[in-house]
Amino acid sequence: MKLAIAGKGGSGKTSISGTMARQLARGGYRVLAIDGDSNPNLALTLGIPADRMSAMPTLPDDLIRRTAQGAELRQSLEEIKASYSVTGPDGVELLVMAHPQHANTGCLCQMHATVRTIIDAASTGEKDVCLLDTEASPEHLTRGTALYADTMLTVVEPYFKSLETGRRMAVLAQDLGLENVVLVANKIRDERDLDAVTTFADRHGLELGGTVPLDPLFVEAERAGVAPLDIRPDAPAMAAISDIANKWGVRGRA
Ligand SMILES: Nc1ncnc2c1ncn2[C@@H]1O[C@H](COP(=O)(O)OP(=O)(O)OP(=O)(O)O)[C@@H](O)[C@H]1O
Ligand SMILES: [Mg+2]
Repeated sequence: MKLAIAGKGGSGKTSISGTMARQLARGGYRVLAIDGDSNPNLALTLGIPADRMSAMPTLPDDLIRRTAQGAELRQSLEEIKASYSVTGPDGVELLVMAHPQHANTGCLCQMHATVRTIIDAASTGEKDVCLLDTEASPEHLTRGTALYADTMLTVVEPYFKSLETGRRMAVLAQDLGLENVVLVANKIRDERDLDAVTTFADRHGLELGGTVPLDPLFVEAERAGVAPLDIRPDAPAMAAISDIANKWGVRGRA
């Protein structure tokens, strides 16, 4: 299964992606997590300590060659993982998209194309999950970075600007032809919040693929520099993300 997690800035993409990756790995899946944010921080939610993060490799920009069909990897994905991935807790393998080191160095198209080609090459085996955490812009959709994902989870908070951003991203993902495009409601406080999301989803013919409650656990985890799953694995928010992982992370093309 290949999943992309999208949504407005700060909606909770990384918190949900990182937690799902760990939970799926604990459930016996081989998980390849890709940090496709040019401001990467998925490692922290995966539980990789900050001091290891700064020394982590990123994907170089010469890994793909253009072909008549699009692009292909110059090396096998296994070779790429051997050179550039970091293995975190529960065995999640993490690849990090290159991010700008200097100002005024130009666009990131080649980086997005590299990630897109890696997702295409990722295994579709029954026990394999490839999970892409995206940045808060439609760039990964307009550049087709998420083209080879089966499913896009669009994380929304229960207020209009977040919902509308999620809707626009969902339309672009449908345009790319992704098999499943659903909203995930995050930071839900009560029935009124949930009602705001369900009403919006119904009005726009979008499926609500899961709901995660607001929980100070996520902020506590960040302050402590650890994964939320390592602080309170039995929190309702962790159970809610696990339900989403089991529903969307293990379904689809085998
Ligand atoms: N369910 C939740 N309850 C409370 N806080 C949350 C929840 N989900 C995420 N957060 C907090 O919201 C903030 C943004 O979360 P996160 O970094 O996961 O969002 P993002 O969408 O990946 O952001 P960005 O667009 O910057 O990549 C963080 O401080 C995180 O701890
Ligand atoms: Mg993020």
